[in-house]
Amino acid sequence: MFEIKSKDNMGRVGVLKTKHGNVKTPALMPVIHPRKQAIDVGKYGADIVITNAYLIYKDENLKQKAIDEGLHKLINFDGPIMTDSGSFQLSVYGDVEITNREVIEFQELIKTDIGTSLDIPTAPFVERQKAEEDLEITLKRAREAVDYKKEKNMEMLLNSVVQGSTFLDLRRKCASELSKLDADLYPIGAVVPLMESYHYKDLVDVVMNSMSELADDRPRHLMGAGHPMIFALCVAMGCDLFDSAAYILYAEDDRLLSVRGTYKLENLTEMPCSCEVCSKYTPDDLRAMSKEQRRDLIAQHNLYVSFAELRLIRQAIYEGSLMELVEERCRAHPALLEAVRHLGNYSEDLEKYNPRSKKSAFFYTGPESLYRSEVIRHMQKLRQMPKKKNLVILPPNRKPYSKFFSGKLGDFYIYGDEKDCDLENTDFMVLDIPFGLIPLEIDELYPLSQNDAPKIHDVDSIEFMEDFIYEFIEYYDQVLIHYKVNDNLELGLLNKYSKSDEIRYVKNDISKIKAIADYQFGFGAGEALFSGNINIEKSKKTGKIRHIYDGKVLIVNMRASDSFLILSKEGAKRLHNAMNYPQNRVVVNKDAEPFALDGKSVFCKFVTDCDDNIRSNDEVLIVNEEDKLLGYGKTLLGSCEIKEFDSGQAVKTRKGMKK
Ligand code: GUN
Ligand code: ZN
Repeated sequence: MFEIKSKDNMGRVGVLKTKHGNVKTPALMPVIHPRKQAIDVGKYGADIVITNAYLIYKDENLKQKAIDEGLHKLINFDGPIMTDSGSFQLSVYGDVEITNREVIEFQELIKTDIGTSLDIPTAPFVERQKAEEDLEITLKRAREAVDYKKEKNMEMLLNSVVQGSTFLDLRRKCASELSKLDADLYPIGAVVPLMESYHYKDLVDVVMNSMSELADDRPRHLMGAGHPMIFALCVAMGCDLFDSAAYILYAEDDRLLSVRGTYKLENLTEMPCSCEVCSKYTPDDLRAMSKEQRRDLIAQHNLYVSFAELRLIRQAIYEGSLMELVEERCRAHPALLEAVRHLGNYSEDLEKYNPRSKKSAFFYTGPESLYRSEVIRHMQKLRQMPKKKNLVILPPNRKPYSKFFSGKLGDFYIYGDEKDCDLENTDFMVLDIPFGLIPLEIDELYPLSQNDAPKIHDVDSIEFMEDFIYEFIEYYDQVLIHYKVNDNLELGLLNKYSKSDEIRYVKNDISKIKAIADYQFGFGAGEALFSGNINIEKSKKTGKIRHIYDGKVLIVNMRASDSFLILSKEGAKRLHNAMNYPQNRVVVNKDAEPFALDGKSVFCKFVTDCDDNIRSNDEVLIVNEEDKLLGYGKTLLGSCEIKEFDSGQAVKTRKGMKK
C-alpha cells in the first residue's frame, strides 16, 4: 500500500494506495470538522483529508448519518479519508466516552480509509514514570487494534501512534514495538506542544529517534504538524504525511501562514504571496470584509501556501536538492536554524538513506552544510582508503580540479621536519569546502566536483579544513602543503620545503580509474576490474573517459554526469570474483532466480540479503543464495529499505547473466 518513487536523505516521494484512490506523498491532510466545515479543501488541492471519528461518534445525528451513508458522504469528500480516534480530546479533557475497541469498530463501520487506535498522547517533559505508564497503555491498545482488525477482517488501514514523550529511549522502544505489529501507517504523536512552543530541536530528537526504529516500508505521519515553515525539515527526517487544522485556526485568528513564518493581517501592508487571494485583494480589502468572508479567504491562502510548499519539496526530492531547501527554510526562525544544526548530529542516520548520486549539485548554504550526509560519507571513505606514504595538499582551482593541475605546482611548506620525499609514493589532494580533502584521482565523482561554495570562507569552514588537515597528517609520513592552502588557515609548525620544484602532478588514467572503482565499489575493486590489456576510450568532445575495455571486451562505461562506473557483463563477473560476499550484492531467493538471469528487475519481496553499504542508485551485483552471479543493475532503494520492503522494485536490472 506504500511505494517509494524518489529519495533524498530520509525524505521520500511515495504513493499511498487506499480504497478511495492514491495519494502522492509527502502530503498534507487538512482537518475537516465533521459539523462545521466551511471550506471545500478538495477544491484547493487536498488529495486526502483527516477528520475525527470520536466527534462523529459523540453526536447522535452525525453518528447515524455516518453509519447510514458512510463517512465520505457525511463530510462530502470522495478521496481518501483518515480518522483520528479521540486521543486528542483525551489529552485535552483527560477522558473520553469510548473504548479502544469501540472506536476501532466504529471507524470500520463508517468506512474510513485509515483508522486510528486510542493512543495516549503524553505531553513533552513529563515525569518519566507517567510517560512509561502511558506508553504501556498505548502499546497495549495498538496491539489490540491490530488483533481486532485481523479478527474482524477489517478493510480499513490502521494507524499505530508512536508516543513516549520527550524520553528518546521510550520513543525508540515504542517505535520498535509498533514496527513488529502489522499496522499500516505510523504517526508520531504528541508533538504539537513542541511545535507550538518552538521546541524544534526537541522535535528533531523525537522524530529522529522514532524514525530510527520505524519500519521503512510504511508511511510516517507527523500528527498535528501543519505549518509549512517546518515541512521541509520534517520531510528530510522521513515524514510522509502532515495533518493540521492550522489553515483554518490561523484564518479564524486573521493570521496568514507562510514558509517564512506567520503574518498577522493587522501588520500587513502588502499581501505576502502570489496566490489568487493575495493577487486579488489588499490587506485593507480583507480588513474591510466580514469576519466570515475574510476567514475563508485567508484559509484559502493558507491551504495554497501549504500545498505549494509540498509540491516544491517533492520537486526538491526528485532533483536531489532537499537539504538546500531545508537549510533555506530553517533561516525563517532561529529555533528552526538550531533544529537543522542539531540534525547535523544525526548525519550518519541520514546517510544510510541518501542516494550516492543526484541530479543537482551540492550547494553550500552555510556552516550547516558541512554536516550533511554527503560530507560525512566522504570523510568515512577517506578514512578507510589505503594511504600512500606522503600527502601533497593543493589549493582549489576550477572544477574538476584534476583537469587544471599539471607540471610544476609552485612552493610548498612541509609539516614537521624535512625528510627525503618519495614523490612516486604520494597522494595528491585538494583542500576545499565542503568536502575537505579530495583526492585528485577521484575528484570527478559526484559530488566531489558537482558542488559549489562561496570563496569567502566563514570561520566554521576554516576550522573544518584545519581539523581535516590535522587528522590526515597522522596517516602520512610526510605532508607537503601548497603555500596558497596556508593563506586562510592557521597551521602551526610549517617550514618551507626546499625541493618544491620536484613536486609535479602527473595524470595517470589507469590509476584514476582504479581509484574511482575503489571508491565506488570498495578497495580492491580497481585492481580486479582493470587487469589485462586496458584500453581507455575518451569522448572526442569533452576528453572525458567514456568506455574502458580489456582488449576489445567492454568492462565498464563511465557516466558523464557523475563519473560513476556502470558495469558491463564482464565488469560484473570481475567484480563478483574479486569482492567477497556480501560486498556490492543483492541476494535473491530461488523464485526470483530465473527472472534475474533473464534480466528482469528484482522486487523487494524476493530479496533475502543485501550488503549494508548499498544505497539507492548504486551499481550492484544480483546473486542467488549460493552467491552465483545472476545479473547486475542499479538499486532504487538503500539496503535498509530493500531488506524491509515487501513490495516494489529493489534493483532495476541492467542485464541478466543468461547466455
Ligand atoms: N493529534 C495530534 N497529536 C495526536 C496524538 O498524539 N495522537 C492522536 N491520536 N492524535 C493526535
Ligand atoms: Zn496568498
